[in-house]
Amino acid sequence: MGRCGYTRTPLWFSYCLATDRAMELINDIDILDDELRKERLDSDELDRPKMAGHESEGQRQVYLETYGCQMNVSDSEIVASVLQEHGYGLTRDEEEADVVLINTCAIRENAEQKVRTRLGMLRARKRDQDGPFMIGVLGCMAERLREKLLEQEKLVDVVAGPDAYRDLPTLLAEADESGQAAVNVQLSKEETYADLNPVRYDSNGVSAFVSIMRGCDNMCAFCVVPFTRGRERSRPVTTILSEVAQLVEEGYKEVTVLGQNVNSYHYTDGSHDVNFAELLDRVSQVSPELRVRYSTSHPKDCSDELLRVHARRHNVCNYIHLPVQHGNTDVLDRMRRTYTRERYLRLIERARSICPGVAFSTDLIAGFCGETEAQHQDTLSLMREVEYDHAYMFKYSERPDTYAARKYEDDVPDDVKQRRLQEIITLQRAHSLQSNQRDVGTVATVLVEGTSKKSDDQLRGRTDTNKMVVFDREDYAKGEYVNVRITDCTSATLLGEPLGRTTLQAEAERLQVA
Ligand code: SAH
Ligand code: SF4
Ligand code: F3S
Repeated sequence: MGRCGYTRTPLWFSYCLATDRAMELINDIDILDDELRKERLDSDELDRPKMAGHESEGQRQVYLETYGCQMNVSDSEIVASVLQEHGYGLTRDEEEADVVLINTCAIRENAEQKVRTRLGMLRARKRDQDGPFMIGVLGCMAERLREKLLEQEKLVDVVAGPDAYRDLPTLLAEADESGQAAVNVQLSKEETYADLNPVRYDSNGVSAFVSIMRGCDNMCAFCVVPFTRGRERSRPVTTILSEVAQLVEEGYKEVTVLGQNVNSYHYTDGSHDVNFAELLDRVSQVSPELRVRYSTSHPKDCSDELLRVHARRHNVCNYIHLPVQHGNTDVLDRMRRTYTRERYLRLIERARSICPGVAFSTDLIAGFCGETEAQHQDTLSLMREVEYDHAYMFKYSERPDTYAARKYEDDVPDDVKQRRLQEIITLQRAHSLQSNQRDVGTVATVLVEGTSKKSDDQLRGRTDTNKMVVFDREDYAKGEYVNVRITDCTSATLLGEPLGRTTLQAEAERLQVA
Protein backbone atom coordinates (compact mmCIF):
# COMPACT_ATOMS: atom_id res chain seq x y z
CA MET A 1 0.00 0.00 0.00
CA GLY A 2 1.31 3.41 -0.79
CA ARG A 3 1.60 6.42 1.41
CA CYS A 4 -0.68 9.37 1.33
CA GLY A 5 2.14 11.86 1.05
CA TYR A 6 1.13 13.32 4.34
CA THR A 7 3.73 14.68 6.69
CA ARG A 8 3.73 14.50 10.44
CA THR A 9 6.04 16.17 12.88
CA PRO A 10 9.04 14.06 13.89
CA LEU A 11 7.54 13.60 17.33
CA TRP A 12 4.85 11.52 15.74
CA PHE A 13 7.36 9.19 14.19
CA SER A 14 7.40 7.20 17.35
CA TYR A 15 3.70 6.45 17.05
CA CYS A 16 4.26 4.58 13.93
CA LEU A 17 3.31 1.01 13.61
CA ALA A 18 1.28 1.00 10.48
CA THR A 19 3.01 -0.03 7.33
CA ASP A 20 2.79 -0.66 3.64
CA ARG A 21 3.45 -4.32 3.70
CA ALA A 22 4.24 -7.69 5.07
CA MET A 23 3.86 -7.80 8.79
CA GLU A 24 5.68 -4.55 9.43
CA LEU A 25 5.12 -4.56 13.14
CA ILE A 26 7.28 -1.72 14.18
CA ASN A 27 5.97 -0.88 17.59
CA ASP A 28 9.47 -1.76 18.52
CA ILE A 29 11.15 0.52 16.06
CA ASP A 30 12.36 2.56 19.00
CA ILE A 31 14.43 -0.34 20.20
CA LEU A 32 16.16 -0.90 16.90
CA ASP A 33 19.50 0.74 16.66
CA ASP A 34 19.62 4.00 14.77
CA GLU A 35 21.23 2.73 11.62
CA LEU A 36 18.84 -0.14 11.19
CA ARG A 37 15.91 2.10 11.99
CA LYS A 38 17.05 4.49 9.28
CA GLU A 39 17.43 1.67 6.77
CA ARG A 40 13.99 0.35 7.57
CA LEU A 41 12.48 3.78 7.36
CA ASP A 42 14.24 4.40 4.07
CA SER A 43 13.28 1.15 2.51
CA ASP A 44 9.82 0.63 3.81
CA GLU A 45 8.75 4.10 4.77
CA LEU A 46 7.65 2.79 8.10
CA ASP A 47 7.40 6.22 9.44
CA ARG A 48 4.00 7.11 10.65
CA PRO A 49 0.54 5.92 11.36
CA LYS A 50 -1.67 5.61 8.36
CA MET A 51 -4.41 8.11 7.99
CA ALA A 52 -7.07 9.08 5.55
CA GLY A 53 -5.24 9.97 2.35
CA HIS A 54 -8.04 11.37 0.30
CA GLU A 55 -10.87 13.56 1.21
CA SER A 56 -14.54 12.99 0.70
CA GLU A 57 -17.46 15.24 1.38
CA GLY A 58 -19.85 14.49 4.20
CA GLN A 59 -21.84 16.15 6.93
CA ARG A 60 -19.19 15.35 9.50
CA GLN A 61 -15.53 14.94 8.79
CA VAL A 62 -13.66 11.94 10.19
CA TYR A 63 -9.92 11.64 10.66
CA LEU A 64 -8.87 8.01 10.88
CA GLU A 65 -5.47 6.96 12.21
CA THR A 66 -4.29 3.37 12.19
CA TYR A 67 -1.73 1.51 14.30
CA GLY A 68 -0.81 -2.15 14.16
CA CYS A 69 -0.60 -4.84 11.54
CA GLN A 70 -1.96 -5.03 8.02
CA MET A 71 -5.20 -6.48 9.34
CA ASN A 72 -5.79 -3.19 11.11
CA VAL A 73 -4.96 -1.21 7.97
CA SER A 74 -7.43 -3.38 6.10
CA ASP A 75 -10.02 -2.93 8.87
CA SER A 76 -9.69 0.85 8.63
CA GLU A 77 -10.68 0.53 4.97
CA ILE A 78 -13.83 -1.24 6.17
CA VAL A 79 -14.46 1.48 8.74
CA ALA A 80 -14.10 4.12 6.01
CA SER A 81 -16.60 2.22 3.90
CA VAL A 82 -19.18 1.98 6.72
CA LEU A 83 -18.80 5.65 7.58
CA GLN A 84 -19.01 6.89 4.01
CA GLU A 85 -22.20 4.93 3.48
CA HIS A 86 -23.64 6.80 6.42
CA GLY A 87 -22.78 10.25 5.15
CA TYR A 88 -19.50 10.85 6.93
CA GLY A 89 -16.64 12.43 5.02
CA LEU A 90 -12.95 11.57 5.41
CA THR A 91 -10.38 14.24 6.00
CA ARG A 92 -6.61 14.12 6.06
CA ASP A 93 -6.46 17.24 8.19
CA GLU A 94 -6.89 16.40 11.82
CA GLU A 95 -7.64 20.02 12.67
CA GLU A 96 -10.64 19.97 10.35
CA ALA A 97 -12.09 16.79 11.80
CA ASP A 98 -15.27 16.59 13.86
CA VAL A 99 -14.43 13.00 14.78
CA VAL A 100 -11.00 11.44 15.32
CA LEU A 101 -10.90 7.64 15.28
CA ILE A 102 -7.81 5.76 16.41
CA ASN A 103 -7.59 2.14 15.28
CA THR A 104 -5.39 0.63 17.96
CA CYS A 105 -2.95 -2.25 18.49
CA ALA A 106 -2.34 -4.18 21.71
CA ILE A 107 0.40 -6.57 20.65
CA ARG A 108 3.09 -5.17 22.96
CA GLU A 109 2.97 -2.85 25.90
CA ASN A 110 4.66 0.04 24.14
CA ALA A 111 2.01 -0.13 21.38
CA GLU A 112 -0.65 0.54 23.96
CA GLN A 113 1.36 3.20 25.69
CA LYS A 114 1.78 5.15 22.48
CA VAL A 115 -1.94 5.12 21.81
CA ARG A 116 -2.67 6.33 25.31
CA THR A 117 -0.26 9.23 24.96
CA ARG A 118 -1.95 10.08 21.69
CA LEU A 119 -5.37 9.95 23.30
CA GLY A 120 -4.14 12.28 26.02
CA MET A 121 -3.20 14.83 23.35
CA LEU A 122 -6.59 14.51 21.68
CA ARG A 123 -8.31 14.88 25.01
CA ALA A 124 -6.45 18.16 25.57
CA ARG A 125 -7.75 19.39 22.23
CA LYS A 126 -11.27 18.38 23.14
CA ARG A 127 -11.07 20.37 26.33
CA ASP A 128 -9.88 23.48 24.53
CA GLN A 129 -12.19 23.27 21.55
CA ASP A 130 -15.46 25.19 21.35
CA GLY A 131 -17.42 23.13 18.84
CA PRO A 132 -18.37 19.45 19.09
CA PHE A 133 -15.48 17.05 18.76
CA MET A 134 -15.55 13.29 19.30
CA ILE A 135 -12.79 10.79 19.94
CA GLY A 136 -13.22 7.09 19.19
CA VAL A 137 -11.04 4.08 19.99
CA LEU A 138 -11.31 1.14 17.61
CA GLY A 139 -9.49 -2.14 17.24
CA CYS A 140 -7.46 -4.35 19.48
CA MET A 141 -7.22 -2.16 22.57
CA ALA A 142 -10.95 -1.57 22.66
CA GLU A 143 -12.09 -4.56 24.66
CA ARG A 144 -9.43 -4.60 27.31
CA LEU A 145 -9.14 -0.91 27.90
CA ARG A 146 -12.78 -0.07 27.64
CA GLU A 147 -13.25 0.41 31.35
CA LYS A 148 -10.07 2.32 31.83
CA LEU A 149 -10.66 4.55 28.85
CA LEU A 150 -14.23 5.27 29.75
CA GLU A 151 -14.34 5.40 33.48
CA GLN A 152 -10.96 6.12 34.97
CA GLU A 153 -9.49 8.31 32.31
CA LYS A 154 -12.67 9.56 30.65
CA LEU A 155 -10.72 9.80 27.44
CA VAL A 156 -13.10 8.78 24.72
CA ASP A 157 -16.65 9.08 23.38
CA VAL A 158 -16.86 5.87 21.36
CA VAL A 159 -15.23 2.46 21.79
CA ALA A 160 -15.70 -0.16 19.04
CA GLY A 161 -14.03 -3.56 18.93
CA PRO A 162 -12.83 -5.22 15.68
CA ASP A 163 -16.18 -6.94 15.07
CA ALA A 164 -18.35 -3.90 15.79
CA TYR A 165 -17.58 -1.61 12.87
CA ARG A 166 -21.01 -1.90 11.28
CA ASP A 167 -22.31 -0.37 14.48
CA LEU A 168 -20.05 2.70 14.36
CA PRO A 169 -22.57 5.16 12.87
CA THR A 170 -25.06 4.21 15.60
CA LEU A 171 -22.43 4.50 18.31
CA LEU A 172 -21.34 7.92 17.05
CA ALA A 173 -24.95 9.13 16.90
CA GLU A 174 -25.66 7.79 20.38
CA ALA A 175 -22.62 9.46 21.87
CA ASP A 176 -23.46 12.68 20.09
CA GLU A 177 -27.02 12.75 21.36
CA SER A 178 -26.45 11.61 24.90
CA GLY A 179 -23.09 13.16 25.60
CA GLN A 180 -22.21 9.78 27.13
CA ALA A 181 -19.71 7.28 25.83
CA ALA A 182 -21.09 4.59 23.50
CA VAL A 183 -19.49 1.15 23.47
CA ASN A 184 -19.62 -2.07 21.47
CA VAL A 185 -16.76 -4.49 22.01
CA GLN A 186 -18.67 -7.68 21.34
CA LEU A 187 -16.67 -10.24 19.40
CA SER A 188 -18.46 -12.29 16.78
CA LYS A 189 -18.05 -15.85 15.56
CA GLU A 190 -19.31 -14.95 12.08
CA GLU A 191 -18.47 -11.36 11.13
CA THR A 192 -16.09 -11.16 8.15
CA TYR A 193 -17.40 -7.92 6.58
CA ALA A 194 -17.58 -10.02 3.43
CA ASP A 195 -20.20 -7.86 1.71
CA LEU A 196 -18.56 -4.49 2.37
CA ASN A 197 -16.54 -2.68 -0.21
CA PRO A 198 -13.34 -1.41 1.45
CA VAL A 199 -12.50 2.24 0.72
CA ARG A 200 -8.82 2.10 -0.19
CA TYR A 201 -8.23 5.61 1.01
CA ASP A 202 -4.48 5.38 1.36
CA SER A 203 -3.78 3.30 -1.70
CA ASN A 204 -1.02 3.68 -4.26
CA GLY A 205 -3.39 2.12 -6.81
CA VAL A 206 -0.92 -0.75 -7.35
CA SER A 207 -1.08 -3.00 -4.25
CA ALA A 208 -4.06 -3.79 -2.07
CA PHE A 209 -4.87 -5.89 0.98
CA VAL A 210 -7.73 -8.35 0.83
CA SER A 211 -8.84 -9.71 4.16
CA ILE A 212 -9.88 -13.38 3.89
CA MET A 213 -10.25 -14.51 7.49
CA ARG A 214 -10.43 -12.99 10.94
CA GLY A 215 -9.50 -13.97 14.46
CA CYS A 216 -7.15 -16.67 15.66
CA ASP A 217 -7.66 -19.95 17.53
CA ASN A 218 -4.01 -20.73 18.15
CA MET A 219 -3.47 -19.31 21.59
CA CYS A 220 0.29 -18.95 21.36
CA ALA A 221 1.32 -18.39 24.98
CA PHE A 222 2.66 -14.85 24.45
CA CYS A 223 -0.03 -13.47 22.18
CA VAL A 224 -2.98 -11.24 22.91
CA VAL A 225 -4.58 -11.48 19.45
CA PRO A 226 -7.00 -14.36 20.21
CA PHE A 227 -8.33 -12.21 23.06
CA THR A 228 -8.61 -8.99 21.08
CA ARG A 229 -9.92 -10.45 17.82
CA GLY A 230 -11.79 -13.55 18.86
CA ARG A 231 -12.38 -16.84 17.13
CA GLU A 232 -11.06 -17.73 13.72
CA ARG A 233 -13.55 -17.49 10.85
CA SER A 234 -13.10 -17.52 7.08
CA ARG A 235 -14.75 -15.37 4.47
CA PRO A 236 -16.77 -16.92 1.61
CA VAL A 237 -14.68 -17.75 -1.47
CA THR A 238 -16.92 -15.96 -3.97
CA THR A 239 -16.75 -12.62 -2.15
CA ILE A 240 -12.95 -12.84 -2.05
CA LEU A 241 -12.69 -13.63 -5.75
CA SER A 242 -15.06 -10.84 -6.73
CA GLU A 243 -13.14 -8.32 -4.62
CA VAL A 244 -9.90 -9.37 -6.31
CA ALA A 245 -11.53 -9.20 -9.77
CA GLN A 246 -12.73 -5.69 -9.01
CA LEU A 247 -9.24 -4.65 -7.94
CA VAL A 248 -7.84 -5.97 -11.21
CA GLU A 249 -10.47 -4.02 -13.12
CA GLU A 250 -9.43 -0.88 -11.24
CA GLY A 251 -5.82 -1.45 -12.35
CA TYR A 252 -4.29 -3.00 -9.22
CA LYS A 253 -1.29 -5.25 -9.91
CA GLU A 254 -0.72 -6.90 -6.55
CA VAL A 255 -2.88 -8.26 -3.75
CA THR A 256 -1.81 -9.47 -0.34
CA VAL A 257 -4.43 -11.75 1.14
CA LEU A 258 -4.59 -11.32 4.88
CA GLY A 259 -5.41 -13.23 8.01
CA GLN A 260 -3.83 -13.72 11.43
CA ASN A 261 -3.22 -17.35 10.49
CA VAL A 262 -3.98 -16.95 6.82
CA ASN A 263 -3.02 -20.45 5.72
CA SER A 264 -5.53 -22.06 8.06
CA TYR A 265 -8.26 -20.57 5.83
CA HIS A 266 -11.06 -23.04 5.16
CA TYR A 267 -14.52 -22.43 3.81
CA THR A 268 -17.19 -24.90 2.87
CA ASP A 269 -18.64 -23.92 -0.48
CA GLY A 270 -21.77 -26.05 -0.86
CA SER A 271 -20.38 -29.54 -0.35
CA HIS A 272 -16.83 -28.58 -1.26
CA ASP A 273 -14.19 -27.64 1.33
CA VAL A 274 -11.87 -24.93 0.05
CA ASN A 275 -8.53 -24.75 1.84
CA PHE A 276 -5.92 -22.01 1.60
CA ALA A 277 -3.91 -23.69 -1.16
CA GLU A 278 -6.99 -23.91 -3.38
CA LEU A 279 -8.07 -20.37 -2.54
CA LEU A 280 -4.62 -19.00 -3.38
CA ASP A 281 -4.62 -20.87 -6.66
CA ARG A 282 -8.02 -19.44 -7.54
CA VAL A 283 -7.02 -15.90 -6.54
CA SER A 284 -3.94 -16.20 -8.74
CA GLN A 285 -6.12 -17.24 -11.70
CA VAL A 286 -8.11 -14.01 -11.57
CA SER A 287 -5.42 -12.35 -13.70
CA PRO A 288 -2.03 -13.61 -14.95
CA GLU A 289 -0.64 -10.09 -14.41
CA LEU A 290 -1.65 -9.88 -10.75
CA ARG A 291 1.01 -10.66 -8.19
CA VAL A 292 -0.34 -12.55 -5.20
CA ARG A 293 1.15 -12.53 -1.70
CA TYR A 294 -0.20 -13.52 1.70
CA SER A 295 0.41 -12.80 5.34
CA THR A 296 0.73 -14.21 7.97
CA SER A 297 1.24 -17.92 7.70
CA HIS A 298 1.75 -20.38 10.53
CA PRO A 299 4.30 -23.18 9.98
CA LYS A 300 1.74 -25.79 11.06
CA ASP A 301 -0.41 -24.95 8.02
CA CYS A 302 2.33 -24.70 5.41
CA SER A 303 1.42 -27.82 3.42
CA ASP A 304 3.11 -29.40 0.40
CA GLU A 305 -0.05 -28.58 -1.52
CA LEU A 306 0.44 -24.89 -0.70
CA LEU A 307 4.13 -25.02 -1.64
CA ARG A 308 3.17 -26.60 -4.96
CA VAL A 309 0.85 -23.65 -5.67
CA HIS A 310 3.87 -21.37 -5.24
CA ALA A 311 5.84 -23.54 -7.64
CA ARG A 312 3.07 -23.96 -10.22
CA ARG A 313 1.57 -20.47 -10.39
CA HIS A 314 3.94 -17.92 -11.89
CA ASN A 315 2.16 -15.00 -10.21
CA VAL A 316 2.14 -16.39 -6.66
CA CYS A 317 5.26 -14.74 -5.28
CA ASN A 318 8.28 -16.84 -4.45
CA TYR A 319 8.33 -15.50 -0.93
CA ILE A 320 6.95 -16.83 2.36
CA HIS A 321 6.71 -15.03 5.68
CA LEU A 322 7.02 -17.95 8.06
CA PRO A 323 7.29 -16.80 11.68
CA VAL A 324 9.39 -19.16 13.77
CA GLN A 325 9.45 -17.04 16.97
CA HIS A 326 12.30 -19.03 18.55
CA GLY A 327 15.06 -21.51 17.74
CA ASN A 328 14.81 -23.78 20.78
CA THR A 329 12.30 -26.62 20.99
CA ASP A 330 11.63 -26.27 24.73
CA VAL A 331 10.92 -22.57 24.33
CA LEU A 332 8.71 -23.28 21.30
CA ASP A 333 6.86 -25.79 23.41
CA ARG A 334 6.34 -23.26 26.19
CA MET A 335 5.26 -20.74 23.58
CA ARG A 336 2.71 -23.35 22.42
CA ARG A 337 3.76 -23.04 18.82
CA THR A 338 3.04 -26.74 18.07
CA TYR A 339 6.28 -27.46 16.17
CA THR A 340 9.87 -28.25 17.09
CA ARG A 341 13.03 -26.62 15.80
CA GLU A 342 13.73 -29.72 13.74
CA ARG A 343 10.27 -29.81 12.18
CA TYR A 344 10.50 -26.15 11.27
CA LEU A 345 13.91 -26.67 9.66
CA ARG A 346 12.58 -29.65 7.69
CA LEU A 347 9.76 -27.44 6.45
CA ILE A 348 12.23 -24.83 5.24
CA GLU A 349 14.19 -27.55 3.42
CA ARG A 350 11.00 -28.93 1.88
CA ALA A 351 9.92 -25.47 0.73
CA ARG A 352 13.33 -24.91 -0.85
CA SER A 353 13.15 -28.22 -2.69
CA ILE A 354 9.64 -27.58 -4.04
CA CYS A 355 10.15 -23.84 -4.73
CA PRO A 356 13.78 -23.23 -5.71
CA GLY A 357 14.96 -19.74 -4.82
CA VAL A 358 12.07 -19.09 -2.41
CA ALA A 359 12.74 -16.17 -0.04
CA PHE A 360 11.87 -16.33 3.64
CA SER A 361 11.17 -13.79 6.29
CA THR A 362 10.27 -14.49 9.89
CA ASP A 363 9.26 -13.07 13.27
CA LEU A 364 11.48 -13.61 16.30
CA ILE A 365 10.96 -12.93 19.99
CA ALA A 366 13.92 -12.33 22.33
CA GLY A 367 13.72 -12.88 26.08
CA PHE A 368 10.60 -15.03 26.42
CA CYS A 369 9.88 -16.30 29.96
CA GLY A 370 12.59 -18.61 31.23
CA GLU A 371 14.83 -18.19 28.17
CA THR A 372 18.39 -19.19 29.03
CA GLU A 373 21.54 -17.98 27.33
CA ALA A 374 21.92 -21.36 25.60
CA GLN A 375 18.34 -21.20 24.33
CA HIS A 376 18.96 -17.71 22.98
CA GLN A 377 22.01 -19.10 21.18
CA ASP A 378 19.66 -21.64 19.56
CA THR A 379 17.70 -18.78 18.01
CA LEU A 380 20.95 -17.39 16.57
CA SER A 381 21.98 -20.81 15.27
CA LEU A 382 18.58 -21.40 13.67
CA MET A 383 18.93 -18.02 11.95
CA ARG A 384 22.33 -19.14 10.64
CA GLU A 385 20.83 -22.36 9.32
CA VAL A 386 17.94 -20.68 7.54
CA GLU A 387 19.58 -17.36 6.56
CA TYR A 388 16.35 -15.40 6.38
CA ASP A 389 16.15 -12.68 3.80
CA HIS A 390 14.33 -10.47 6.27
CA ALA A 391 13.02 -10.61 9.83
CA TYR A 392 10.82 -8.71 12.28
CA MET A 393 12.38 -8.90 15.69
CA PHE A 394 10.79 -8.16 19.03
CA LYS A 395 11.56 -8.07 22.70
CA TYR A 396 9.09 -10.15 24.70
CA SER A 397 6.40 -8.04 26.30
CA GLU A 398 4.02 -9.67 28.75
CA ARG A 399 0.36 -9.25 27.78
CA PRO A 400 -2.45 -9.56 30.30
CA ASP A 401 -4.63 -12.69 30.23
CA THR A 402 -2.31 -14.65 27.96
CA TYR A 403 -1.18 -18.15 28.93
CA ALA A 404 2.34 -16.86 29.56
CA ALA A 405 1.10 -14.07 31.83
CA ARG A 406 -0.93 -16.56 33.85
CA LYS A 407 1.55 -19.44 34.03
CA TYR A 408 5.11 -18.19 33.63
CA GLU A 409 7.28 -15.55 35.16
CA ASP A 410 8.52 -12.74 32.92
CA ASP A 411 11.96 -13.34 34.38
CA VAL A 412 14.51 -12.29 31.77
CA PRO A 413 15.80 -8.87 32.91
CA ASP A 414 15.13 -6.06 30.49
CA ASP A 415 18.81 -5.32 29.79
CA VAL A 416 19.34 -9.00 28.92
CA LYS A 417 16.30 -9.02 26.62
CA GLN A 418 17.60 -5.88 24.96
CA ARG A 419 21.09 -7.33 24.47
CA ARG A 420 19.75 -10.57 23.05
CA LEU A 421 17.44 -8.67 20.71
CA GLN A 422 20.37 -6.56 19.53
CA GLU A 423 22.37 -9.73 18.78
CA ILE A 424 19.48 -11.06 16.74
CA ILE A 425 19.16 -7.77 14.86
CA THR A 426 22.89 -7.59 14.13
CA LEU A 427 22.94 -11.14 12.78
CA GLN A 428 19.85 -10.57 10.68
CA ARG A 429 21.31 -7.43 9.21
CA ALA A 430 24.36 -9.41 8.09
CA HIS A 431 22.11 -12.06 6.53
CA SER A 432 19.94 -9.47 4.79
CA LEU A 433 23.05 -7.84 3.37
CA GLN A 434 24.44 -11.19 2.16
CA SER A 435 21.10 -12.06 0.61
CA ASN A 436 21.01 -8.73 -1.22
CA GLN A 437 24.65 -9.07 -2.29
CA ARG A 438 23.81 -12.42 -3.90
CA ASP A 439 21.29 -10.55 -6.08
CA VAL A 440 23.87 -8.08 -7.42
CA GLY A 441 24.44 -8.88 -11.10
CA THR A 442 21.07 -10.60 -11.55
CA VAL A 443 17.99 -9.23 -13.31
CA ALA A 444 14.80 -8.83 -11.24
CA THR A 445 11.25 -8.12 -12.36
CA VAL A 446 10.11 -5.17 -10.31
CA LEU A 447 6.55 -3.97 -9.86
CA VAL A 448 6.80 -0.18 -9.64
CA GLU A 449 4.97 1.19 -6.61
CA GLY A 450 5.91 4.86 -6.84
CA THR A 451 8.61 7.46 -6.62
CA SER A 452 11.64 6.80 -4.43
CA LYS A 453 11.58 8.68 -1.17
CA LYS A 454 14.99 10.19 -1.73
CA SER A 455 14.65 11.48 -5.27
CA ASP A 456 11.85 12.26 -7.72
CA ASP A 457 14.15 11.03 -10.47
CA GLN A 458 14.03 7.50 -9.12
CA LEU A 459 11.32 4.89 -8.80
CA ARG A 460 10.89 2.16 -6.25
CA GLY A 461 9.21 -1.21 -6.41
CA ARG A 462 9.44 -4.79 -5.21
CA THR A 463 10.84 -8.00 -6.57
CA ASP A 464 8.90 -11.23 -6.52
CA THR A 465 10.88 -12.07 -3.37
CA ASN A 466 9.62 -8.88 -1.69
CA LYS A 467 12.85 -6.91 -1.84
CA MET A 468 12.72 -3.16 -2.37
CA VAL A 469 14.51 -1.93 -5.51
CA VAL A 470 15.33 1.68 -6.41
CA PHE A 471 16.24 2.66 -9.98
CA ASP A 472 16.25 5.63 -12.39
CA ARG A 473 12.82 6.72 -13.49
CA GLU A 474 13.56 7.14 -17.25
CA ASP A 475 10.08 6.81 -18.80
CA TYR A 476 8.75 4.08 -16.52
CA ALA A 477 5.65 4.54 -14.43
CA LYS A 478 3.84 3.28 -11.36
CA GLY A 479 2.07 -0.04 -11.90
CA GLU A 480 4.46 -1.29 -14.61
CA TYR A 481 6.62 -4.40 -14.43
CA VAL A 482 10.20 -3.45 -15.24
CA ASN A 483 13.23 -5.71 -15.57
CA VAL A 484 16.03 -4.19 -13.52
CA ARG A 485 19.67 -5.24 -13.41
CA ILE A 486 20.79 -5.14 -9.78
CA THR A 487 24.03 -3.21 -9.49
CA ASP A 488 24.44 -2.49 -5.78
CA CYS A 489 22.72 -2.88 -2.41
CA THR A 490 22.47 -2.07 1.26
CA SER A 491 21.05 -4.54 3.78
CA ALA A 492 17.61 -3.05 3.18
CA THR A 493 17.49 -1.99 -0.48
CA LEU A 494 18.64 -3.13 -3.90
CA LEU A 495 19.82 -0.54 -6.42
CA GLY A 496 19.65 -1.18 -10.13
CA GLU A 497 19.37 -0.01 -13.72
CA PRO A 498 16.19 -0.54 -15.72
CA LEU A 499 16.43 -2.75 -18.81
CA GLY A 500 12.87 -2.58 -20.13
CA ARG A 501 9.19 -3.14 -19.52
CA THR A 502 7.88 -6.64 -19.23
CA THR A 503 4.84 -8.67 -18.21
CA LEU A 504 4.54 -11.47 -15.68
CA GLN A 505 3.44 -13.84 -18.42
CA ALA A 506 6.41 -12.99 -20.63
CA GLU A 507 8.75 -13.63 -17.70
CA ALA A 508 7.05 -16.96 -16.91
CA GLU A 509 7.41 -18.08 -20.53
CA ARG A 510 11.03 -16.99 -20.63
CA LEU A 511 11.79 -19.03 -17.50
CA GLN A 512 10.02 -22.09 -18.91
CA VAL A 513 12.06 -21.93 -22.11
CA ALA A 514 15.26 -21.53 -20.12
N1 SAH B 1 -0.56 -13.88 13.44
C1 SAH B 1 0.76 -13.66 13.15
C2 SAH B 1 1.42 -12.55 13.87
C3 SAH B 1 0.79 -11.97 15.05
S1 SAH B 1 1.59 -10.72 15.88
C4 SAH B 1 1.53 -14.94 13.35
O1 SAH B 1 1.14 -15.79 14.08
O2 SAH B 1 2.56 -15.04 12.76
C5 SAH B 1 3.11 -10.47 15.04
C6 SAH B 1 4.30 -10.83 15.79
O3 SAH B 1 4.40 -10.08 16.98
C7 SAH B 1 4.34 -12.26 16.23
O4 SAH B 1 4.69 -13.11 15.20
C8 SAH B 1 5.36 -12.21 17.33
O5 SAH B 1 6.66 -12.36 16.83
C9 SAH B 1 5.21 -10.80 17.89
N2 SAH B 1 4.56 -10.81 19.19
C10 SAH B 1 3.31 -11.25 19.49
N3 SAH B 1 3.08 -11.14 20.81
C11 SAH B 1 4.20 -10.63 21.36
C12 SAH B 1 4.59 -10.29 22.69
N4 SAH B 1 3.77 -10.49 23.72
N5 SAH B 1 5.83 -9.77 22.88
C13 SAH B 1 6.66 -9.59 21.84
N6 SAH B 1 6.36 -9.89 20.58
C14 SAH B 1 5.14 -10.41 20.33
FE1 SF4 C 1 -0.94 -14.72 17.94
FE2 SF4 C 1 -0.11 -17.18 17.54
FE3 SF4 C 1 -2.46 -16.39 16.56
FE4 SF4 C 1 -0.22 -15.45 15.52
S1 SF4 C 1 -0.87 -17.59 15.49
S2 SF4 C 1 -2.03 -14.28 16.06
S3 SF4 C 1 1.14 -15.31 17.27
S4 SF4 C 1 -1.94 -16.59 18.71
FE1 F3S D 1 -1.90 -5.33 16.84
FE2 F3S D 1 -4.31 -6.30 16.71
FE3 F3S D 1 -2.71 -6.50 14.64
S1 F3S D 1 -2.98 -6.43 18.44
S2 F3S D 1 -0.71 -6.64 15.57
S3 F3S D 1 -3.49 -4.63 15.47
S4 F3S D 1 -4.19 -8.01 15.31
